[in-house]
Amino acid sequence: MAVATPVPRLEGFDHTLPFLREGYDFISRRCDRLQSDRFLTRLMLRPVLCTRGAEAAEMVYEGGRFTRQGALPPTTLRLLQDKGSVQQLDGAAHLHRKTLFVDLLMNDRAEDEVVGLFREEWRRALSKWMRRPQIVLLDEVHLVMTRAICRWTGVPQEEISAEEMAAILALMVENSGRIDPSVLLALMRRRKLERHLEGLVRSIRNGQVQLPPEAPIVQLARFRDFKGDLLPEKTAAVEILNILRPTLAIGRFIVFAAMALQEQGDWRNKLLGADDAAYEFFAEEVRRLYPFFPLVGGIAVASFEWRGYPIETGDWVLLDLYGTVHDQRLFANPDNFDPNRRLTWRSQGYDFIPQGAGVTSRTHRCPGEQFTVALMREATRMLVEEMEYEVLPQDLSMPRNRMPTRPKSGMIFSNVRGRAA
Ligand code: HEM
Repeated sequence: MAVATPVPRLEGFDHTLPFLREGYDFISRRCDRLQSDRFLTRLMLRPVLCTRGAEAAEMVYEGGRFTRQGALPPTTLRLLQDKGSVQQLDGAAHLHRKTLFVDLLMNDRAEDEVVGLFREEWRRALSKWMRRPQIVLLDEVHLVMTRAICRWTGVPQEEISAEEMAAILALMVENSGRIDPSVLLALMRRRKLERHLEGLVRSIRNGQVQLPPEAPIVQLARFRDFKGDLLPEKTAAVEILNILRPTLAIGRFIVFAAMALQEQGDWRNKLLGADDAAYEFFAEEVRRLYPFFPLVGGIAVASFEWRGYPIETGDWVLLDLYGTVHDQRLFANPDNFDPNRRLTWRSQGYDFIPQGAGVTSRTHRCPGEQFTVALMREATRMLVEEMEYEVLPQDLSMPRNRMPTRPKSGMIFSNVRGRAA
Protein backbone atom coordinates (compact mmCIF):
# COMPACT_ATOMS: atom_id res chain seq x y z
CA MET A 1 0.00 0.00 0.00
CA ALA A 2 1.56 3.29 -1.07
CA VAL A 3 2.05 5.89 1.65
CA ALA A 4 0.92 9.44 1.00
CA THR A 5 3.86 11.85 1.39
CA PRO A 6 3.78 15.60 0.79
CA VAL A 7 5.05 16.73 -2.62
CA PRO A 8 7.99 19.16 -2.30
CA ARG A 9 8.09 22.25 -4.49
CA LEU A 10 11.44 23.55 -5.78
CA GLU A 11 12.43 27.01 -4.66
CA GLY A 12 12.54 29.61 -7.43
CA PHE A 13 10.03 30.42 -10.15
CA ASP A 14 11.21 28.37 -13.13
CA HIS A 15 13.88 25.68 -13.62
CA THR A 16 14.22 25.56 -17.41
CA LEU A 17 17.85 26.74 -17.31
CA PRO A 18 19.01 24.18 -14.72
CA PHE A 19 17.13 21.52 -16.69
CA LEU A 20 18.94 22.46 -19.91
CA ARG A 21 22.25 22.62 -18.03
CA GLU A 22 21.90 19.30 -16.18
CA GLY A 23 19.95 17.28 -18.75
CA TYR A 24 19.74 13.62 -17.83
CA ASP A 25 20.53 14.32 -14.17
CA PHE A 26 18.06 17.14 -13.53
CA ILE A 27 15.14 15.15 -12.06
CA SER A 28 17.09 12.44 -10.23
CA ARG A 29 19.47 14.86 -8.56
CA ARG A 30 16.56 16.74 -7.04
CA CYS A 31 14.68 13.57 -6.12
CA ASP A 32 17.79 12.34 -4.27
CA ARG A 33 18.27 15.66 -2.52
CA LEU A 34 14.61 15.97 -1.49
CA GLN A 35 14.35 12.24 -0.72
CA SER A 36 11.17 12.17 -2.74
CA ASP A 37 10.31 10.48 -6.04
CA ARG A 38 8.27 13.52 -7.07
CA PHE A 39 8.49 17.27 -6.90
CA LEU A 40 6.76 20.30 -8.33
CA THR A 41 8.40 23.05 -10.35
CA ARG A 42 7.99 25.08 -13.55
CA LEU A 43 9.67 24.28 -16.87
CA MET A 44 9.27 26.67 -19.81
CA LEU A 45 7.12 28.69 -17.37
CA ARG A 46 4.66 25.80 -17.13
CA PRO A 47 3.86 24.04 -13.82
CA VAL A 48 4.99 20.41 -13.90
CA LEU A 49 5.09 17.41 -11.59
CA CYS A 50 8.43 15.62 -12.07
CA THR A 51 8.47 11.93 -11.11
CA ARG A 52 10.64 8.84 -11.22
CA GLY A 53 10.39 5.19 -10.17
CA ALA A 54 8.21 2.17 -10.81
CA GLU A 55 5.09 3.53 -9.11
CA ALA A 56 5.26 6.71 -11.16
CA ALA A 57 5.81 4.66 -14.33
CA GLU A 58 2.68 2.64 -13.62
CA MET A 59 0.71 5.83 -12.99
CA VAL A 60 1.88 7.44 -16.25
CA TYR A 61 1.53 4.34 -18.45
CA GLU A 62 -1.45 2.36 -17.18
CA GLY A 63 -5.12 3.24 -16.99
CA GLY A 64 -5.28 5.79 -19.82
CA ARG A 65 -4.89 8.72 -17.40
CA PHE A 66 -2.59 10.75 -19.65
CA THR A 67 -2.49 11.97 -23.22
CA ARG A 68 0.79 12.70 -25.00
CA GLN A 69 -0.87 15.64 -26.77
CA GLY A 70 0.74 18.85 -25.56
CA ALA A 71 3.23 16.93 -23.41
CA LEU A 72 6.38 17.69 -25.44
CA PRO A 73 7.75 20.93 -26.91
CA PRO A 74 6.23 21.26 -30.43
CA THR A 75 9.61 20.98 -32.20
CA THR A 76 10.48 17.76 -30.35
CA LEU A 77 7.08 16.38 -31.25
CA ARG A 78 7.47 17.28 -34.94
CA LEU A 79 10.94 15.73 -35.13
CA LEU A 80 9.94 12.55 -33.29
CA GLN A 81 6.44 11.13 -33.34
CA ASP A 82 4.54 14.04 -34.93
CA LYS A 83 0.87 15.00 -35.04
CA GLY A 84 -1.57 12.25 -36.00
CA SER A 85 0.87 9.50 -35.03
CA VAL A 86 -0.02 6.54 -32.82
CA GLN A 87 1.70 8.23 -29.88
CA GLN A 88 -0.66 11.19 -30.10
CA LEU A 89 -3.79 9.03 -30.00
CA ASP A 90 -5.76 8.01 -26.92
CA GLY A 91 -8.30 5.37 -25.92
CA ALA A 92 -9.87 3.14 -28.58
CA ALA A 93 -8.18 4.96 -31.49
CA HIS A 94 -4.76 4.39 -29.88
CA LEU A 95 -5.39 0.71 -29.14
CA HIS A 96 -6.55 0.10 -32.70
CA ARG A 97 -3.53 1.83 -34.32
CA LYS A 98 -1.19 0.20 -31.80
CA THR A 99 -2.22 -3.28 -33.00
CA LEU A 100 -0.74 -2.35 -36.39
CA PHE A 101 2.68 -1.71 -34.83
CA VAL A 102 2.55 -4.67 -32.48
CA ASP A 103 1.52 -7.01 -35.32
CA LEU A 104 4.19 -5.67 -37.66
CA LEU A 105 7.12 -5.44 -35.25
CA MET A 106 6.69 -7.76 -32.31
CA ASN A 107 7.05 -11.26 -33.70
CA ASP A 108 9.92 -13.64 -34.40
CA ARG A 109 9.34 -13.72 -38.16
CA ALA A 110 9.75 -9.95 -38.46
CA GLU A 111 12.78 -10.11 -36.17
CA ASP A 112 14.44 -12.81 -38.31
CA GLU A 113 13.73 -10.87 -41.50
CA VAL A 114 15.13 -7.58 -40.25
CA VAL A 115 18.14 -9.24 -38.62
CA GLY A 116 18.92 -11.11 -41.87
CA LEU A 117 18.84 -7.88 -43.90
CA PHE A 118 20.89 -6.08 -41.26
CA ARG A 119 23.60 -8.75 -41.37
CA GLU A 120 23.79 -8.53 -45.16
CA GLU A 121 24.11 -4.75 -45.06
CA TRP A 122 26.67 -4.83 -42.23
CA ARG A 123 28.86 -7.36 -44.08
CA ARG A 124 28.64 -5.33 -47.30
CA ALA A 125 29.65 -2.22 -45.37
CA LEU A 126 32.45 -4.09 -43.57
CA SER A 127 34.13 -4.91 -46.88
CA LYS A 128 34.21 -1.15 -47.60
CA TRP A 129 35.36 -0.21 -44.08
CA MET A 130 38.35 -2.51 -44.52
CA ARG A 131 39.55 -0.36 -47.44
CA ARG A 132 39.50 2.86 -45.38
CA PRO A 133 42.02 3.97 -42.75
CA GLN A 134 39.22 4.79 -40.34
CA ILE A 135 35.45 5.07 -40.02
CA VAL A 136 33.05 6.96 -37.73
CA LEU A 137 30.92 4.12 -36.43
CA LEU A 138 27.82 6.22 -35.66
CA ASP A 139 27.60 7.53 -39.26
CA GLU A 140 28.30 4.14 -40.79
CA VAL A 141 25.77 2.32 -38.62
CA HIS A 142 23.12 4.92 -39.46
CA LEU A 143 23.59 4.03 -43.10
CA VAL A 144 23.49 0.28 -42.45
CA MET A 145 20.29 0.66 -40.41
CA THR A 146 18.66 2.83 -43.08
CA ARG A 147 19.43 0.38 -45.88
CA ALA A 148 18.19 -2.58 -43.83
CA ILE A 149 14.95 -0.98 -42.64
CA CYS A 150 14.12 0.45 -46.09
CA ARG A 151 14.50 -3.03 -47.56
CA TRP A 152 12.40 -4.55 -44.78
CA THR A 153 9.56 -2.03 -45.01
CA GLY A 154 9.66 -1.92 -48.85
CA VAL A 155 10.64 1.76 -49.13
CA PRO A 156 12.55 2.16 -52.44
CA GLN A 157 16.02 3.69 -52.20
CA GLU A 158 16.22 5.19 -55.70
CA GLU A 159 14.54 8.60 -55.67
CA ILE A 160 15.93 9.47 -52.24
CA SER A 161 19.21 7.60 -51.76
CA ALA A 162 19.96 5.69 -48.56
CA GLU A 163 22.70 8.26 -47.84
CA GLU A 164 20.28 11.18 -48.07
CA MET A 165 17.58 9.33 -46.14
CA ALA A 166 20.04 8.43 -43.36
CA ALA A 167 21.21 12.05 -43.17
CA ILE A 168 17.62 13.33 -42.80
CA LEU A 169 16.61 10.70 -40.24
CA ALA A 170 19.80 11.30 -38.22
CA LEU A 171 19.14 15.05 -38.22
CA MET A 172 15.69 14.41 -36.74
CA VAL A 173 17.11 12.28 -33.93
CA GLU A 174 20.04 14.63 -33.23
CA ASN A 175 17.88 17.72 -32.97
CA SER A 176 14.85 16.28 -31.21
CA GLY A 177 15.90 17.60 -27.80
CA ARG A 178 16.93 21.06 -28.97
CA ILE A 179 14.92 24.23 -28.88
CA ASP A 180 17.16 26.47 -31.01
CA PRO A 181 17.18 27.46 -34.73
CA SER A 182 19.06 24.29 -35.79
CA VAL A 183 15.77 22.40 -35.52
CA LEU A 184 14.37 24.42 -38.44
CA LEU A 185 16.73 22.76 -40.93
CA ALA A 186 15.86 19.35 -39.53
CA LEU A 187 12.15 20.16 -39.84
CA MET A 188 12.52 21.33 -43.45
CA ARG A 189 14.36 18.19 -44.44
CA ARG A 190 11.84 16.03 -42.61
CA ARG A 191 9.08 17.66 -44.69
CA LYS A 192 10.87 16.66 -47.92
CA LEU A 193 11.03 13.03 -46.83
CA GLU A 194 7.44 13.12 -45.64
CA ARG A 195 6.23 14.38 -49.03
CA HIS A 196 8.17 11.60 -50.73
CA LEU A 197 6.55 8.98 -48.48
CA GLU A 198 3.10 10.51 -49.01
CA GLY A 199 3.62 10.08 -52.77
CA LEU A 200 4.63 6.49 -52.20
CA VAL A 201 1.49 5.79 -50.16
CA ARG A 202 -0.61 7.34 -52.96
CA SER A 203 1.12 5.21 -55.61
CA ILE A 204 0.63 2.03 -53.60
CA ARG A 205 -3.04 2.82 -53.13
CA ASN A 206 -3.67 3.60 -56.82
CA GLY A 207 -1.62 0.64 -58.04
CA GLN A 208 1.18 2.65 -59.72
CA VAL A 209 3.65 0.98 -57.39
CA GLN A 210 3.21 -2.77 -57.00
CA LEU A 211 4.73 -4.42 -53.94
CA PRO A 212 3.94 -7.73 -52.20
CA PRO A 213 0.83 -7.34 -49.99
CA GLU A 214 2.76 -8.47 -46.91
CA ALA A 215 5.36 -5.67 -47.30
CA PRO A 216 5.07 -3.47 -44.17
CA ILE A 217 4.75 -0.33 -46.28
CA VAL A 218 1.75 -1.83 -48.10
CA GLN A 219 0.16 -2.79 -44.80
CA LEU A 220 0.67 0.74 -43.52
CA ALA A 221 -0.72 2.25 -46.73
CA ARG A 222 -3.79 0.02 -46.61
CA PHE A 223 -4.38 0.16 -42.84
CA ARG A 224 -7.82 1.45 -41.84
CA ASP A 225 -8.47 3.37 -38.64
CA PHE A 226 -11.04 2.21 -36.11
CA LYS A 227 -13.83 3.91 -38.07
CA GLY A 228 -12.87 1.91 -41.17
CA ASP A 229 -11.23 4.80 -43.09
CA LEU A 230 -7.80 4.72 -44.75
CA LEU A 231 -5.33 6.93 -42.89
CA PRO A 232 -4.77 10.37 -44.48
CA GLU A 233 -1.66 10.17 -46.72
CA LYS A 234 0.23 12.45 -44.36
CA THR A 235 -0.57 10.29 -41.34
CA ALA A 236 0.44 7.11 -43.18
CA ALA A 237 3.75 8.81 -44.10
CA VAL A 238 4.25 9.85 -40.46
CA GLU A 239 3.76 6.25 -39.34
CA ILE A 240 6.24 4.95 -41.94
CA LEU A 241 8.70 7.47 -40.54
CA ASN A 242 7.87 6.10 -37.09
CA ILE A 243 9.49 2.85 -38.18
CA LEU A 244 12.39 4.27 -40.24
CA ARG A 245 13.60 6.98 -37.81
CA PRO A 246 13.71 4.96 -34.57
CA THR A 247 15.37 2.05 -36.36
CA LEU A 248 18.15 4.39 -37.44
CA ALA A 249 18.25 5.56 -33.82
CA ILE A 250 19.18 2.03 -32.71
CA GLY A 251 22.57 2.97 -34.24
CA ARG A 252 23.22 5.04 -31.10
CA PHE A 253 22.67 2.01 -28.88
CA ILE A 254 25.01 0.02 -31.16
CA VAL A 255 27.70 2.66 -30.66
CA PHE A 256 27.08 2.41 -26.90
CA ALA A 257 27.50 -1.38 -27.20
CA ALA A 258 30.83 -0.79 -28.95
CA MET A 259 31.80 1.59 -26.14
CA ALA A 260 30.82 -1.03 -23.54
CA LEU A 261 33.04 -3.60 -25.27
CA GLN A 262 35.84 -1.06 -25.06
CA GLU A 263 35.42 0.26 -21.55
CA GLN A 264 33.49 -2.25 -19.41
CA GLY A 265 35.96 -5.09 -18.88
CA ASP A 266 36.62 -8.21 -20.86
CA TRP A 267 33.22 -8.73 -22.45
CA ARG A 268 34.72 -9.32 -25.88
CA ASN A 269 36.31 -12.56 -24.68
CA LYS A 270 33.36 -13.54 -22.52
CA LEU A 271 30.96 -13.16 -25.44
CA LEU A 272 33.04 -14.91 -28.08
CA GLY A 273 31.02 -17.93 -29.24
CA ALA A 274 28.17 -17.13 -26.79
CA ASP A 275 24.50 -17.85 -27.52
CA ASP A 276 21.75 -15.34 -28.33
CA ALA A 277 20.69 -15.05 -24.69
CA ALA A 278 24.15 -13.92 -23.53
CA TYR A 279 24.37 -11.32 -26.31
CA GLU A 280 20.86 -10.10 -25.43
CA PHE A 281 21.66 -9.69 -21.72
CA PHE A 282 24.66 -7.63 -22.80
CA ALA A 283 22.46 -5.50 -25.08
CA GLU A 284 19.81 -5.03 -22.38
CA GLU A 285 22.42 -3.82 -19.90
CA VAL A 286 23.67 -1.34 -22.51
CA ARG A 287 20.06 -0.08 -22.86
CA ARG A 288 19.91 0.35 -19.09
CA LEU A 289 23.26 1.99 -18.43
CA TYR A 290 23.86 4.31 -21.37
CA PRO A 291 21.78 7.51 -21.67
CA PHE A 292 19.34 7.77 -24.55
CA PHE A 293 15.66 8.70 -24.14
CA PRO A 294 15.66 10.78 -20.92
CA LEU A 295 11.99 11.17 -20.06
CA VAL A 296 8.41 11.06 -21.26
CA GLY A 297 5.62 13.52 -20.61
CA GLY A 298 1.86 13.31 -20.24
CA ILE A 299 -1.10 15.63 -19.72
CA ALA A 300 -3.78 14.29 -17.35
CA VAL A 301 -7.10 13.63 -19.10
CA ALA A 302 -8.99 13.12 -15.82
CA SER A 303 -8.65 14.17 -12.21
CA PHE A 304 -7.39 11.53 -9.82
CA GLU A 305 -5.37 11.16 -6.65
CA TRP A 306 -1.89 9.65 -6.76
CA ARG A 307 -0.41 8.67 -3.40
CA GLY A 308 -2.41 11.35 -1.67
CA TYR A 309 -1.62 14.08 -4.21
CA PRO A 310 -4.48 15.39 -6.38
CA ILE A 311 -3.70 15.47 -10.12
CA GLU A 312 -6.20 17.60 -12.04
CA THR A 313 -7.26 17.35 -15.69
CA GLY A 314 -4.71 19.28 -17.76
CA ASP A 315 -1.83 18.84 -15.29
CA TRP A 316 1.58 18.19 -16.87
CA VAL A 317 3.64 15.27 -15.55
CA LEU A 318 7.17 14.16 -16.51
CA LEU A 319 8.48 10.64 -15.87
CA ASP A 320 12.26 10.24 -15.63
CA LEU A 321 13.00 7.03 -17.57
CA TYR A 322 16.76 7.41 -17.27
CA GLY A 323 16.54 8.13 -13.53
CA THR A 324 14.33 5.10 -13.01
CA VAL A 325 16.76 2.68 -14.65
CA HIS A 326 19.55 4.20 -12.53
CA ASP A 327 17.66 4.05 -9.24
CA GLN A 328 19.72 2.08 -6.74
CA ARG A 329 16.59 0.80 -5.02
CA LEU A 330 15.65 -0.95 -8.27
CA PHE A 331 19.13 -1.78 -9.62
CA ALA A 332 21.95 -2.49 -7.15
CA ASN A 333 25.12 -0.49 -7.96
CA PRO A 334 23.31 1.19 -10.85
CA ASP A 335 26.46 2.74 -12.33
CA ASN A 336 28.12 -0.64 -12.76
CA PHE A 337 27.80 -2.43 -16.10
CA ASP A 338 26.55 -5.89 -15.28
CA PRO A 339 24.83 -8.05 -17.94
CA ASN A 340 24.38 -10.69 -15.22
CA ARG A 341 21.33 -8.70 -14.12
CA ARG A 342 19.68 -10.67 -16.95
CA LEU A 343 17.28 -7.87 -17.83
CA THR A 344 14.73 -8.28 -20.61
CA TRP A 345 12.10 -6.11 -22.26
CA ARG A 346 9.86 -9.18 -22.24
CA SER A 347 9.12 -8.65 -18.50
CA GLN A 348 6.87 -5.70 -19.54
CA GLY A 349 7.16 -4.20 -16.06
CA TYR A 350 7.63 -0.74 -14.56
CA ASP A 351 11.28 -0.75 -13.43
CA PHE A 352 13.36 -1.63 -16.51
CA ILE A 353 11.92 1.09 -18.74
CA PRO A 354 14.45 2.59 -21.19
CA GLN A 355 11.71 2.57 -23.88
CA GLY A 356 8.61 3.05 -21.76
CA ALA A 357 6.69 0.97 -19.22
CA GLY A 358 3.82 -1.50 -18.91
CA VAL A 359 2.27 -3.85 -21.43
CA THR A 360 3.14 -2.69 -24.95
CA SER A 361 -0.15 -3.60 -26.62
CA ARG A 362 -2.30 -1.48 -24.28
CA THR A 363 0.00 1.40 -23.32
CA HIS A 364 2.31 3.86 -25.09
CA ARG A 365 5.29 1.59 -24.41
CA CYS A 366 7.60 1.35 -27.42
CA PRO A 367 6.67 -1.43 -29.87
CA GLY A 368 10.24 -1.40 -31.23
CA GLU A 369 11.98 -3.11 -28.30
CA GLN A 370 12.17 -6.54 -29.92
CA PHE A 371 13.82 -4.99 -33.01
CA THR A 372 16.08 -2.84 -30.84
CA VAL A 373 17.43 -5.67 -28.72
CA ALA A 374 17.72 -8.11 -31.65
CA LEU A 375 19.65 -5.61 -33.78
CA MET A 376 21.92 -4.65 -30.86
CA ARG A 377 22.52 -8.35 -30.23
CA GLU A 378 23.51 -8.96 -33.85
CA ALA A 379 25.64 -5.83 -34.10
CA THR A 380 27.54 -6.80 -30.94
CA ARG A 381 28.02 -10.28 -32.37
CA MET A 382 29.46 -8.78 -35.57
CA LEU A 383 31.79 -6.52 -33.56
CA VAL A 384 33.03 -9.47 -31.50
CA GLU A 385 32.97 -12.40 -33.90
CA GLU A 386 33.47 -10.98 -37.37
CA MET A 387 35.78 -8.01 -37.13
CA GLU A 388 38.80 -6.45 -35.50
CA TYR A 389 39.58 -2.77 -35.18
CA GLU A 390 41.56 -0.30 -33.16
CA VAL A 391 40.10 2.43 -31.01
CA LEU A 392 42.83 5.06 -30.95
CA PRO A 393 42.74 7.96 -28.47
CA GLN A 394 39.69 10.12 -29.22
CA ASP A 395 37.02 12.14 -27.43
CA LEU A 396 34.41 9.62 -26.31
CA SER A 397 32.93 11.96 -23.71
CA MET A 398 29.15 12.31 -23.78
CA PRO A 399 27.74 15.71 -22.75
CA ARG A 400 24.99 15.02 -20.22
CA ASN A 401 23.06 18.13 -21.15
CA ARG A 402 22.67 17.03 -24.75
CA MET A 403 19.57 14.88 -25.21
CA PRO A 404 19.95 12.48 -26.87
CA THR A 405 23.68 12.46 -26.15
CA ARG A 406 26.45 10.66 -28.07
CA PRO A 407 30.20 10.22 -27.84
CA LYS A 408 31.70 13.41 -29.27
CA SER A 409 33.90 11.50 -31.74
CA GLY A 410 31.02 9.29 -32.92
CA MET A 411 33.36 6.33 -32.06
CA ILE A 412 36.17 6.15 -34.57
CA PHE A 413 37.43 2.71 -35.59
CA SER A 414 40.85 2.55 -37.24
CA ASN A 415 42.36 -0.22 -39.28
CA VAL A 416 39.17 -2.31 -39.52
CA ARG A 417 39.78 -5.93 -40.53
CA GLY A 418 37.70 -9.05 -40.88
CA ARG A 419 38.28 -11.55 -38.10
CA ALA A 420 39.58 -14.95 -39.10
CA ALA A 421 37.20 -17.66 -37.79
C1 HEM B 1 16.35 3.39 -30.70
C2 HEM B 1 15.85 2.95 -29.64
C3 HEM B 1 14.49 3.40 -29.19
C4 HEM B 1 14.20 4.19 -28.12
C5 HEM B 1 15.19 4.79 -27.12
C6 HEM B 1 12.75 4.33 -28.09
C7 HEM B 1 12.05 5.01 -27.10
C8 HEM B 1 10.67 5.05 -27.03
C9 HEM B 1 9.92 5.53 -25.90
C10 HEM B 1 10.51 6.04 -24.59
C11 HEM B 1 8.60 5.46 -26.21
C12 HEM B 1 7.42 5.80 -25.31
C13 HEM B 1 6.91 7.20 -25.59
C14 HEM B 1 5.78 7.59 -24.65
O1 HEM B 1 5.48 6.90 -23.69
O2 HEM B 1 5.20 8.66 -24.89
C15 HEM B 1 8.52 4.95 -27.57
C16 HEM B 1 7.35 4.79 -28.27
C17 HEM B 1 7.31 4.39 -29.59
N1 HEM B 1 8.35 3.84 -30.32
FE1 HEM B 1 10.25 3.62 -29.69
N2 HEM B 1 12.22 3.66 -29.15
C18 HEM B 1 13.23 3.06 -29.85
C19 HEM B 1 13.11 2.24 -30.95
C20 HEM B 1 11.96 2.09 -31.69
C21 HEM B 1 11.85 1.32 -32.89
C22 HEM B 1 12.97 0.48 -33.48
C23 HEM B 1 10.58 1.51 -33.37
C24 HEM B 1 9.93 0.97 -34.60
C25 HEM B 1 10.53 0.21 -35.49
C26 HEM B 1 9.89 2.40 -32.43
C27 HEM B 1 8.60 2.88 -32.57
C28 HEM B 1 7.89 3.51 -31.57
C29 HEM B 1 6.49 3.90 -31.68
C30 HEM B 1 5.60 3.74 -32.91
C31 HEM B 1 6.12 4.45 -30.43
C32 HEM B 1 4.75 5.01 -30.02
C33 HEM B 1 3.99 3.95 -29.26
C34 HEM B 1 2.67 4.41 -28.68
O3 HEM B 1 2.46 5.61 -28.50
O4 HEM B 1 1.84 3.55 -28.39
N3 HEM B 1 10.75 2.72 -31.44
N4 HEM B 1 9.79 4.66 -28.03
